[in-house]
Amino acid sequence: MFSKTLMLISCCISLPELIAADCNKERKCKTSRVHGLRSADCYRMDMREFPKCLSSNTEALELSYNRIRKVTKEDLRRYPYMVHLYLMDNLIVNLDDDVFQESSSLRTIDLSVNALKKVPPTLFQLPSLTTLYLSQNLNINVAESIDEAKPISQSCLTKLDMSYITEDGSSTDFPDFRELPLLAFLNITGVNFNYISTRHFAGLCNLQILGSENVSAEFEHDCDCERINRWLLERKVKYTELVCPTNEIDCSNKPIDVEDLEVYQNCRAKYAKISRSLYLEKVWHWLGIAAGGLVLTGILVGCCIWKHIKQKKAMEARESLRQRENRQLLNNQTKV
Ligand SMILES: *[C@@H]1O[C@H](CO)[C@@H](O)[C@H](O)[C@H]1NC(C)=O
Ligand SMILES: *[C@@H]1O[C@H](CO)[C@@H](O)[C@H](O)[C@H]1NC(C)=O
Repeated sequence: MFSKTLMLISCCISLPELIAADCNKERKCKTSRVHGLRSADCYRMDMREFPKCLSSNTEALELSYNRIRKVTKEDLRRYPYMVHLYLMDNLIVNLDDDVFQESSSLRTIDLSVNALKKVPPTLFQLPSLTTLYLSQNLNINVAESIDEAKPISQSCLTKLDMSYITEDGSSTDFPDFRELPLLAFLNITGVNFNYISTRHFAGLCNLQILGSENVSAEFEHDCDCERINRWLLERKVKYTELVCPTNEIDCSNKPIDVEDLEVYQNCRAKYAKISRSLYLEKVWHWLGIAAGGLVLTGILVGCCIWKHIKQKKAMEARESLRQRENRQLLNNQTKV
């Protein structure tokens, strides 16, 4: 019992020292303000571990081109205000499923050029995440993580880069996004898919740019490839035409599946609703500011008037005092 207590005490004493010692060893990253955010720049510093000694207020952290192998929930817990995290070109092979679970302010994460095989599904459930880079993690299974994270329709992901994630000779499933009304940019350049059809794009009803160079895929039906090209063209997406396998059938009149159109219409309706509520939020925001300004002006004007009245009253009081004194003086003189 006694020895246990002693151990506990010695632990408590040595722990802070240990952390302090770690911080002396840790490379010093440049800190500055970038676009108003408290930023730490640890670009290409040969770091092997996630930094532990930066200010807990850090909002943007550049860790690209290092040799970090591990990122844990505890690492991220140190920086609860993190908005942008760049981990491009490190040696990350594995991330725990719940590693980003508490990173509720995270808006951008760059995990490209690592060796991840799986994306933590919780990433697709983060309330603020809009930008996700996964490019060049060979054989990473994005589709599986999205299946595990479902439903992801609440996700506010607007930009997803998953270019070059298949090795030569291997292929992957196209993620089943269902409805993702905010996704505006998707990069699938250089990916070899098991198969794709218009169904995969139906729920991406706000897609504006599709990086689709060097995409290869199998197609279930003869005209699927042509229909995807037509679908994207009709919806004014900026994309590179898929190279379709030659076939003898004329695909120009092959209609789009009714179900795909339904999914698309539902997604558009949802998008319209989101835009409306965002617009209203903005209007209320400015109305709030205007009302606040009016109240402030009112208070200022009220203050001025009150001050003016007070001054006037004081002057009148002084005046009447002076008159009284004068009268008294006069009275005294007449008495004398
Ligand atoms: C998609 O990614 C590739 C490589 O990562 C890049 O070269 C290409 O420009 C990107 N496409 C778009 C539309 O940004
Ligand atoms: C597509 O592939 C060709 C030939 O392999 C290559 O030259 C080109 O750079 C690739 N395009 C992109 C955007 O990676």
